[in-house]
Parts: sequence; structure tokens; C-alpha cells
Amino acid sequence: MNLDDLEDLAAQYRAASADVRQEVRVCLAASCQSSGAQPVFDALVAELGEQRPDCKVKGVGCMGLCSAGPLVSVAAPQSGLEESTLYRDVAPEDAGEIIASLDGAPVARLHCPTDQPFFTRQHKIVLENAGIIDPDSFRGYVAQGGYAALVRALSEMTPADVLREVTESGLRGRGGGGYPTGLKWSTVAKMPGERKYVICNADEGDPGAFMDRAILESDPHRVLEGMAIAAYAIGASKAYVYVRAEYPLAVERFQTAIRKAKRSGFLGNKIADTQFSLEVEIRLGAGAFVCGEETALMASIEGLRGQPRPRPPYPAESGLWGCPTLINNVETFANIVPIIREGGDWFATIGTERSKGTKVFALAGTITNTGLIEVPMGTALRDIIEVIGGGIPGGKAFKAVQTGGPSGGCIPAAHLDIAVDYDSLKTLGTMMGSGGMIVMDETSSMVDVARYFMEFCMTESCGKCIPCRTGTQQMHAILDRLAKGQGSRADLALLEELCEVVQATSLCGLGQTAPNPVLSTMRYFRDEYEAKLGADRQVSLTDSQ
Ligand SMILES: Cc1cc2nc3c(=O)[nH]c(=O)nc-3n(C[C@H](O)[C@H](O)[C@H](O)COP(=O)(O)O)c2cc1C
Repeated sequence: MNLDDLEDLAAQYRAASADVRQEVRVCLAASCQSSGAQPVFDALVAELGEQRPDCKVKGVGCMGLCSAGPLVSVAAPQSGLEESTLYRDVAPEDAGEIIASLDGAPVARLHCPTDQPFFTRQHKIVLENAGIIDPDSFRGYVAQGGYAALVRALSEMTPADVLREVTESGLRGRGGGGYPTGLKWSTVAKMPGERKYVICNADEGDPGAFMDRAILESDPHRVLEGMAIAAYAIGASKAYVYVRAEYPLAVERFQTAIRKAKRSGFLGNKIADTQFSLEVEIRLGAGAFVCGEETALMASIEGLRGQPRPRPPYPAESGLWGCPTLINNVETFANIVPIIREGGDWFATIGTERSKGTKVFALAGTITNTGLIEVPMGTALRDIIEVIGGGIPGGKAFKAVQTGGPSGGCIPAAHLDIAVDYDSLKTLGTMMGSGGMIVMDETSSMVDVARYFMEFCMTESCGKCIPCRTGTQQMHAILDRLAKGQGSRADLALLEELCEVVQATSLCGLGQTAPNPVLSTMRYFRDEYEAKLGADRQVSLTDSQ
């Protein structure tokens, strides 16, 4: 299989659907499915019947505006969401009207304008195929240029060339830490040893985060192709995708992608007639947050209890079964294809000095447009919340946005003009994390928010190290007292001390960052903690047990 063969495949797909003038695309990602998209799809298929070979009803991935689902778009083949007629809150009963409108004016009462900032202010790289292609269609992916980057890498580039492009791109890991991807790949590539592994981290345990799920459900081949390019660059022939079992649709679509890629010669032995071979296997996680931490994840793949171990050694040096292992997040891998296709220097023109490319965010909480967005790094937080997100519904005031999940913090209104990138968020005491953004209005209690995240960390602590196991319990007990108006000034002092200790002494990132939501809410909303103080009693550690 060379680039010409790929082009032939794409041409065959286009020829087979040459008569199709209009596609009626139904979002069949998890969010729209939960609001009833499957019956809408079935009703549209039944309504269209066999009479219209020039139209086709097609299941696609996430279109982004989840709060308006089920979403249906009518578009010319290959065209993007912005060029389509978009319908919101579609019910099966609307199918007749939508199909009848294909030859005339759009159905006004269902129409959702795509010239609004939610759509026009985004910059889609990772999500460029989402909501357009059928995630289960191998040929559909190829028709969008899919697998050309892999074939190019294998036939025209050495592993060192691939490493150079990825390094030049400035891409940083999207799983939370922001570690430079090119540096990580180069480290694994340099390690001696016959056996090396690639792992795609699709554990996604942060409350409010659904970016990776949507990427896998919308464009699974994109992630697979990125993983294959990575395996070629570092010299691996075995890869794993670790995905939580609570994501059955993502698992099913990824499984289908693996099967079809293998059948077409893009996985398995001697890919694209080269000496490069790769097997990809899915491993299901049982939903423990700590299993997203790389060393715990690897233990889980090895069949051991999913608990972290100290680093070093880092996975790049000694990972799965003691072999050098490259572990990256879903979105990190999804960025690889455009980097190889357009060049690392192109990618580096997008974003900020130290945070390149775009970032996918999951907007949740009290915000008008909940859903999935992709914007260039460095976009102002205010633009994300007020312009793209449409602000706070019901005339209420914005209070804070929580970023970075249980490892992050809350940003108050005073800092809404910050440019969102890895480094700027850190200066505010929070972090980018994997991309969850939970927006809160004036009615939210920030002490409750801190208590919620601490309860999450307490429940999810694996118990291996004492600071995290007991520290999160103690901090939660204090926060619970404070939230109930029974805390004291001594509680506040003790809470701050515990934050420092747990941060400094925990074994892994879960404990090390568990205090962040407390520290950031204390920093920006101290008055709310003060207002909650009850009788000013002295509290010792034993009282709070
Ligand atoms: C408690 C905890 C949970 C984590 N969960 C995830 C996760 O769900 N997905 C992910 O990609 N990274 C997660 N990470 C970060 C990983 O350990 C690792 O840094 C990441 O997968 C590396 O990929 P990247 O370089 O592409 O970001 C987690 C870290 C910690 C400490």
C-alpha cells in the first residue's frame, strides 16, 4: 500500500457515493445518544426510504454543541459543520419535515445557526473530522486523507525524521502534565532494548471531562494512526489502549477501527509493505481515577493492582514489563497526523510561545453552551466562557471556572482575561489538566466545591501511601465541618498545613495535587471560608478523625 493506492481507495469511496448530493448527518456520540439520537437516526432512515439515491442518512461523531442535542446537520459530502444546515433538539417526529425540506427551505423551528461564535471562534485540528465522518467507516476516514501520514512516514521518512517533526511542532502532552512530546518520544527511541511499547492513555477520570471519549467516539482511526506513527518512531511493535469500561461506545468504535485497519493492512505484519509491524490491543480499566496515572496504569495492564510506584525510573526508561514505554494521552496522539501531514513548523505557528497548537476543552456546569470545543492555545478565558460558551444562563453572575479537575483549581472573575496555556494557568494556582472546564455561577459555594473535589480524591486514593490515604480523609473531614458551619479558625490553619504536607510527601500526582482545589479556593474566596466559621474552637488532628 503506497500513497497512490491510498488515493485510489479514497477515489473508490468518492465514486461509490458520487450520486449523493446531500448527507443528513446525525450525531451518534454518547452525549447526543443520551438525549435520544438513535431513534432520530432510525426515523430519518425510515423516512428517507429507498426513493432518494441522492441523499444519505449518516451516523457521525460529536458536533460539539452537546447542550442542543440531538443534533442533525444537512450538508454536501466532505463539507464541514459551518457549511451545513444544523438542527438542534431534534425528535424522531421531526424526521418527515427534515427529509421534506431537503429540496427546499430549512426547517426554521429547528434551525441552529452555525455563524454564531460557538462555531466560528473555534479552530479545529484534533476535531477536524468529528461530526463529519462516520467513525465506523474506514473508507470514509481514508477519503478525508486518513492513513496518508502513516504511509508517508513509513515510506519517505526515517524514525529520526518523525522525531524531528514532532519535536519541532512543540507539541506538549495533553494528559495534564504538558511534558514535551518530542522529548519523550526521543528518550524512548534512544533507549536500548528489542522490546518497546506504546500506550494510549484513555482513562479520562476527571469529573466533567469528556474530551478523550468524544475523540475516540468521533474519529478512532485518527488516534490509531497517531499511535502507529509513534510506534514507528520509537521502534515498538506492540501498543495498548487503556480505556475505562464506562466508555462502551468508545471501546466499540476503537475495536472496529483496529479490526478494519488490520484488514486493510494498516496494522499487523509489514504495514504498507514495509518491515514495520504493529499489534494494538485494548485494555479495559475498571474506572479507578488513579489508574490514569502512568505507573498505576502500567501495573493494571500487567494484571497487577492499579497502584502507582515511585518515579524514576520513568516509563520511558523502564515501563511495561520493565521495557522502555511511550505513554501519551488520546489527544496527544490525535495531534500527530496533522503534524506529519503539514509539518512541525506549521503546527508551531499555532498557539503561544511555549504552548503550541490547539486544545480541546469540555465545557460543563452553569454555562449556556455545554459541549466540546477546540481553540488555539492562548485564547482568553473570557472568550471561552462568555463568547464561545455563551456566558451564564438565567441572568446570573459568573463566579469561577474550575480547570484541571481534582488536580486543578478555581479561577475567579478577576482573572477571566488570562490567556489559557500551560504556564499562565499555573501562575493562577491551577492547571490546564486534560481540558475539563466546570463553570460556576454566583450561587455556588466554593467551600462545597473544595469539599466535593476532596471527597473525590479521598474516595479515589489507592491507599498505598499514608499522606494521601489519611491526609485526604483529614482534609475532607475539616472541609465537611467548615461547609456545615461548624469549623473553627484553627481548622483553617490545620487545613493549610495539611495541604502543604500532602502536596510535599504523597507518592504520586493524585495526592501531590489533591490540595490544589482547596488552596485555590482559599486564595480567591477566603471570605467564604471565613463566613462559614462556627464557634472558634481549637481542633487537633485527633478531633477530626
Ligand atoms: C491521578 C492521575 C490521573 C491521571 N489520569 C490521566 C488520564 O486519565 N489520562 C491521561 O492521559 N493522563 C492522565 N494522567 C497523566 C499520566 O500520568 C501521564 O502523564 C499522561 O498519560 C502522559 O501523556 P501525555 O504526555 O500525552 O500527556 C493522570 C495523572 C495522575 C497523577
